[in-house]
This record gives sequence, structure tokens and C-alpha cells, in this order.
Amino acid sequence: MDAALSTRPLDWRTDFPAIPDGWAYLDSAATAQKPRAVIDAIARGYAETYATVHRGVYQRSADMTVAFEASRRRVARFINAGSPEEIVFVRGATEGINLVASSWGRDNLKPGDRVLLSTLEHHSNIVPWQLAGAEIDVVPLTADHRIDLDAMAAMIGPRHKLVALAHVSNVLGSVLDAKRAARIAHDAGAKLLLDGCQAVPRMPVDVADLDCDFYVFSGHKLYGPTGIGVLWARPEILDAMPPWQGGGAMIEKVTFERTTFAPPPQRFEAGTPHVVGVIGLHAAIDYVDGLGLEAIAAHEAALVRTTREALSGLNSVRLFGPGDSAGIVSFAVEGVHPHDVGTILDESRVAIRAGHHCAQPLMAALGVEATARVSFGVYNGVEDVSALIHGIARVTRIFG
Ligand SMILES: Cc1ncc(COP(=O)(O)O)c(C=O)c1O
Repeated sequence: MDAALSTRPLDWRTDFPAIPDGWAYLDSAATAQKPRAVIDAIARGYAETYATVHRGVYQRSADMTVAFEASRRRVARFINAGSPEEIVFVRGATEGINLVASSWGRDNLKPGDRVLLSTLEHHSNIVPWQLAGAEIDVVPLTADHRIDLDAMAAMIGPRHKLVALAHVSNVLGSVLDAKRAARIAHDAGAKLLLDGCQAVPRMPVDVADLDCDFYVFSGHKLYGPTGIGVLWARPEILDAMPPWQGGGAMIEKVTFERTTFAPPPQRFEAGTPHVVGVIGLHAAIDYVDGLGLEAIAAHEAALVRTTREALSGLNSVRLFGPGDSAGIVSFAVEGVHPHDVGTILDESRVAIRAGHHCAQPLMAALGVEATARVSFGVYNGVEDVSALIHGIARVTRIFG
């Protein structure tokens, strides 16, 4: 057994009531299970302290507003943002990228301007740029399935106004050298957006150190509630961005002739927000910070090593992605459709994801229609890897 697995500091699995004994949940890249601390915070938010925010003159609403804004400060501290005003609450990473594409894109992407993406992007970091009318160029992958930053440096030019890349690939687990990507983008006069969906649950993220311009992530992959996520952007960029949705809470003054808008982040938070989602996100961040992102990263790295070693011993299995992927391993079993792999594993109480993972261009580049994917969370242990490997052995027996 890998040393890092045997020195796991706590039995983290017991924090997760929805994971019964004997069930190997290996689909955390899709969505993470919730620890008791998050479930309790959400329950309290509805059962004890519930009220709207930013509007009420009564004490309950004022208290909820304090809790809501405390969460914004907590998020800012979590990713080392300069101030809480740089944190915009959105529904998730998808909405965060759509916000940037619509708002920043409206002012900054002129006809002929281009956006640089990579082959491994999630659809939510492709389609919003198409909807914004941007011309798209695609950075290829290296032989070991990382975003090829040498190729990016050779491709980028003055028409590229933005580079938008996954910090960690949801299919391959490849970790981007984000600081180098930022240098290359900035040297060419482009901004860098990082899709941090798969990074924030797996490694410490410091937006100042990364030197990116935009960072997005979803709460539900970080052990928090669904329906809440974060867009961070540099304050001078947010200040200059026009609103993208109109409604309550984002205005300064409204007349039928003219409306003036609130400063960020309120300018981008039209309507009643997901109040309890924001409270739950605070609890989720406290939870992962309590375990320690370094410890989580080491734990998942050990699980990945063990899994890749075991899978590479099976000659019917093809592995994708680099050897040091972050918490995610994609593979194919020769002659067996990934959906069949997933269905047979489910019979052995092993839950994995099978499909294109919202990354159809990547599937095309890999020359497959789909992959089987395991993705780890803090609750997984070596017993889950064993269950997976036994399950794969059964798959190969069934399919001869
Ligand atoms: C890398 C990446 N980007 C974006 C998304 C979209 O996240 P959401 O559906 O929570 O908005 C996901 C979700 O799978 C993802 O893994």
C-alpha cells in the first residue's frame, strides 16, 4: 500500500452520511458527496436562520446578510483574492464563464478578435465563447495529455484577447502550469481565465500567485451545495465590466429613462441570491481547509498512483492522461464500451462515470467516443481502488 494512504490523518469517510459501507463512490469530478458539516449548515440555514439578504430591515435578515457576506470573505481568503468585492456568487462554473463571455466579451471581443482554448476543455469553457461570437483557436495536447504550453506560446498573437484553460482537466486530471500560461498570455497582451472546477477540491489555489485574470469554480465539486459557484476577477477588470443580467439588487437607481448600476460584485448578482447555498459553501470551505488542501492533494495523488499501477497491470486496459494526474483517471477496457464497464462496476457497488464527460472535442482527439473515469474525493480509500480493480477483472471475464 502507498505510504500516503496508510498515514491518512483521519477517517474522513465517516464525515459523509450518504456513503454507505461497501459503496465505492468514484465520481467526485461530477459532484462531490457532502460532509455532515455542510448538510448541517444547510439545514440550519433553512430551519433556523432563514431570511432574505441585503433587503430586510428586520433583525433576521440583517443577521442572514452578515452570514452571507462572511461567506464572501471566506471565499476570498480561500483563494487569496485581494478583497471580498472581487468575489461574485454565481450558480456554478458554467454560469461564471457565461458571465465573463457575455459581459467582458461584449466590450472586449470585437469582430476578428480571437480566444485561445485547449483541446481538453469542458463544453462549458467552449460553448460560451462560441455564443459570444469569438473566433476560437485550440492549443493541442502533449503526448502525455497536458496542455502544450510550448505550442500555446508559438500560436498566440495580437488578435488573441483571452486564453481560457482548465486548471485541472475533468477527464485526464492533467494539471496546468498556470503560472507559465499566465506569463505567455500576458506577454501577448491577452487575459487568462482559469476554469478551476477540478482544481479547488484537490489543491491549494492562490489567484494572486497564479497571476490569472479570472478564476471560476463550482461549490458542489468542493463538497458544497449545488447551485452556487464563484467567479473571481481582478478588481479593475470587474469594475469595467457591464452588467449581464438586470433585476433587483444590482442597481443604484432605476427610472424608466435610465438605470445606474451598483459596483461589483452586486452589479453581477441580479435577483435574490442562493442564500443558503452561500452559507453551505462557507461550511464546505471550512471543511476542506480543516482537512488541509495539501493533505487532500497527497491523499488523492496516492490513490491515483495506486489506481494507475493496478490498471496498467491489466493488459486489456488503456490509460489516458499523465501519470501525475490530480485525483482523476480515465481509461478504456479493450473491446468493451465504457457504459458497459460502468454498468458492470455498478453491480459490484462501484460508481464511476462513463461517457464523453462534456468534452467531445477531447474524445475526438483521443480517438474514442467515450472513456471510463474514476475520480477521487477525500472519502475514498485503498479499499475503493481494490473494489474497482476486482470489478474490472469481472468486466474482462464477462466480455472474455
Ligand atoms: C473542468 C470543468 N469545467 C466546468 C464544469 C461545469 O461545472 P458546473 O456544471 O458545475 O457549472 C465542470 C463540471 O463537470 C468541469 O469539470
